Amino acid sequence: MVREVKKSMKKYTLGNSKEEALNLLPNGRVKKVKLGEKEIAVLRLGEEVFGFEPFCPHRGASLLNAYPNSSGELICPLHEYRFNLKSGRPMAGGCRDLETYSCILGEGGLEIQI
Ligand code: FES
Repeated sequence: MVREVKKSMKKYTLGNSKEEALNLLPNGRVKKVKLGEKEIAVLRLGEEVFGFEPFCPHRGASLLNAYPNSSGELICPLHEYRFNLKSGRPMAGGCRDLETYSCILGEGGLEIQI
């Protein structure tokens, strides 16, 4: 028998306005954000924001020192595996996908769904 298990998603809002959310996130640097009991990593590139798990799916290195390249990929500092920031798919290196979270920047702040 197969049962459908639905994951419950939670929404959080960072900042009270778009400008406030942008000011909380340094451009081009990964920042740790605590949402309830969960910590995630957030990276802002201009007015695009990406959310993802804070540890690399390869060997568990912290991604707080990871950095983006010009192709919209996140590079893990330990073994330089590259991950697509939107899909989480590894572009170089063999491991599972990086878990990513929806981040929508609007006039009321940054809405993150985990
Ligand atoms: S721990 Fe990230 S690439 Fe190896």
